[in-house]
Amino acid sequence: MSMSIKFRSGEKVPMEMHKVRMVQKVNLLPVDERVQAITESGCNTFLLKNRDVFLDMLTDSGVNAMSQEQYAAMMNADDAYSGSETYYRLEKAIQDVFGTEFFLPTHQGRACENVISKSFVKPGQTVIMNYHFTTTKAHIEINGGNVVEIVSDEGLKVTSDLPFKGNLDINKLKSEIARIGAENVAYVRVEAGTNLIGGQPVSVANMRETAAIAKEHGIMTVFDASLLSDNLYFIKTREPEFANKSLNEITLELGKMFDITYFSARKLGCARGGGIMVNREDLYLTMQGLIPLYEGFLTYGGMSIREMEALAVGLKEGLDINVIEQTPIFVEALCNELIKNNVPVVTPPGGLGCHVNAEAFCGHLPVEEYRSGALAVAMYIASGVRGMERGTLSESRNADGSERYAEMELLRLAVPKRVFTLSQMKYVADRLTWLYENRELIGGLKFTFEPKILRFFFGKLEPIGDWPQKLAAKFQADFGDSL
Ligand code: F0G
Repeated sequence: MSMSIKFRSGEKVPMEMHKVRMVQKVNLLPVDERVQAITESGCNTFLLKNRDVFLDMLTDSGVNAMSQEQYAAMMNADDAYSGSETYYRLEKAIQDVFGTEFFLPTHQGRACENVISKSFVKPGQTVIMNYHFTTTKAHIEINGGNVVEIVSDEGLKVTSDLPFKGNLDINKLKSEIARIGAENVAYVRVEAGTNLIGGQPVSVANMRETAAIAKEHGIMTVFDASLLSDNLYFIKTREPEFANKSLNEITLELGKMFDITYFSARKLGCARGGGIMVNREDLYLTMQGLIPLYEGFLTYGGMSIREMEALAVGLKEGLDINVIEQTPIFVEALCNELIKNNVPVVTPPGGLGCHVNAEAFCGHLPVEEYRSGALAVAMYIASGVRGMERGTLSESRNADGSERYAEMELLRLAVPKRVFTLSQMKYVADRLTWLYENRELIGGLKFTFEPKILRFFFGKLEPIGDWPQKLAAKFQADFGDSL
């Protein structure tokens, strides 16, 4: 039973179904120090020091709250280079949750992508997918492959009522296979909870159809389950066929559906690590040799044994609706508050976080001045909240050096699992609304240092003009002594 609780007024409040038993103090710097911190960080929120951040909404990766059962399990780990009992416990948990046959441990999600792309992408081949993730695409391209995206048209519209905007367009899947030729398709990849376009879910019905078509053409299927937790919540609450199915019944169906399923355990399972689940022995054997080469021995794959114990417990806890709903119901509450205040956000509210539409928010800025990046800087100045640019900065340039403009310009405010309280979400909505009312003060950015690969991680930029100072002055005028 989902825990949005109805109050006397009729208002539905997302209730925390856990209590806080350990805390970490956070700092909220005065606004002028926030201007200094972000400009010294090259206007890149990845480069901020966490001590200068009030609410860290950069990501939900590796920063989710763990349960007391997970911490307890960490104490019970079995240290061994090979054949550790811990590994067998994790392998068993994965079999119980997904019903898959073989398992390869890795140190995180992109490590899975390295192993899968190296094993199965040949130069000139295409990977068809609903939508790319930054590291996924980088690994496919570095191995000489290319990416074709076939997300539903609605998936690329910022506002929509469609419950499963992350679905693959089945007609496009068929026509792309015909155009490219099945033999030139390395695999079809489905990403649960499409990260870069607002954390929008994929329905089981759509995945079934996709997998069946790929199979018909003899094409391998790969499922990125990193964001499965939120996607499961949406399957359970939005896909009528599954309203009365248990979350384990759903994961078992998904585990069997694809040849390969991989995940970042920094997200799924609330620990740190990753893994590749395989249903075909030939595919398993093709990848196996790369694990000791890049990750570690087959029974740890670069993960610490303590994280593996926490993951085994976390995966099972993720089959409880009260555990997995905490992020999506907070995201929904935050988005609804913003919508009420006319702040443009991606709808319907998805998983992972609240996605602010920077194209509309900063429409007064030219696209080449990085609207989403500028909004991330302005949000930090206005609130000490650290979000993540998910727009053109997160793309890489075309081969000829020109910009590849993102299909959506977003500021992502991630909601890590069970970390924040409702009053903190109210604060985010308040400061973002203030910023929206003062949006004309937000200026653009330009690069001072631009790395070639995944430039958003450590690229440096500077503000065009002194707009951060002007924004801070307006903040002081409006809020006085308040931080
Ligand atoms: N696939 C998806 C859908 C992801 O969201 C991520 C990570 C990865 C793969 C890579 O996993 O980080 O363990 O190597 N997303 C993080 C984020 C980084 O902030 O959204 P990883």
